[in-house]
Amino acid sequence: MTNQTPAFSIGDVPIFGDLILAPMDGISDMPLRGICRRLGSAMIVTEFINALDVLENHPRYHQRLRFEPYHRPLSLQLLGDNPDQILQAALKLVPEVKPDIIDINLGCQSKNVTSRGAGAALLKTPDKIAAIFRLMSDNFTQPITGKIRLGWDDTQLNYLEVAKIIQDHGGAMVAVHGRTRQQAYRGRARWEPIREVKQALHIPVIGNGDVRTVAEIDHIKAVTGCDGVMIGRAAMDNPWLFSRIDRDAVPPEQVRETILDHFDAMLRFYGQRGVITFRKYLKAYLAPYPSPKEDLLAVLKSKDPHEVRDWLARFFDTLIGR
Ligand SMILES: Cc1cc2nc3c(=O)[nH]c(=O)nc-3n(C[C@H](O)[C@H](O)[C@H](O)COP(=O)(O)O)c2cc1C
Repeated sequence: MTNQTPAFSIGDVPIFGDLILAPMDGISDMPLRGICRRLGSAMIVTEFINALDVLENHPRYHQRLRFEPYHRPLSLQLLGDNPDQILQAALKLVPEVKPDIIDINLGCQSKNVTSRGAGAALLKTPDKIAAIFRLMSDNFTQPITGKIRLGWDDTQLNYLEVAKIIQDHGGAMVAVHGRTRQQAYRGRARWEPIREVKQALHIPVIGNGDVRTVAEIDHIKAVTGCDGVMIGRAAMDNPWLFSRIDRDAVPPEQVRETILDHFDAMLRFYGQRGVITFRKYLKAYLAPYPSPKEDLLAVLKSKDPHEVRDWLARFFDTLIGR
């Protein structure tokens, strides 16, 4: 590691690699973060941590924060609508978690979040964004970064204004998801605006949205000139993308090994309910393979880890031809 040249740096944190697992509430949990980090994600960002949960000491946020030492550089993503609450939550968490980076969520589109002015709704209040970044960068030595969308909707595309505010108020990196809040996850992500942001800023810019293949990694980099690429949903069926491998090039033996590693990590992390939580990943891992629907449904309904492992052994033995 020490002899490598970083792809870029976030403040004074060198980032060795240009592909990063995107934070995804309920998806990029600690087990997935571990798999993706081992396969090449250059750093780890937590799922959003709601500042109010931290201030009210709600038990649900602890699990979302967990990490292993090898996950570093670790970015703690905070979500909130009130600059002082975000600061107070960070003051509480930082001594305990010691994140390398602190990220502010300016992109979450869910109604629960935006109706109280947090996530993507912050894009409508640039003064608050300025206050958050000023307050956070004055109070912490860690670099403060922001993850944004293009704007609230197509009539309010203020990504350039927001990105410059972040930079001018001490921000050290901006990640841009090339959609508006109104688009949610519909339509195609637009990459051209990410290029405009990259050209306008001197801090690193991360491109994000609809990157599913190695060719798309190269394409978003060529179109935007971005310093790094965040990969979200594609990580569920192809964590090997962080090693720049397309899913159809991953041998079944390797898929089997990763599924079993991931499954074990889920059971360690969630206990027995890990079997149920794992279903969505298993479905995604197996999607590229032909398999009788009833057979797949049976394993996806199972609550028994032994049954799932036995099924996987039979499935891959048949697939590999043993
Ligand atoms: C289920 C889900 C949960 C998400 N949760 C977060 C989150 O906690 N914080 C955040 O900044 N973005 C979140 N996002 C947005 C992703 O980080 C990413 O910007 C988006 O999925 C687009 O990238 P992709 O096309 O590679 O998936 C979430 C996306 C999904 C699909």
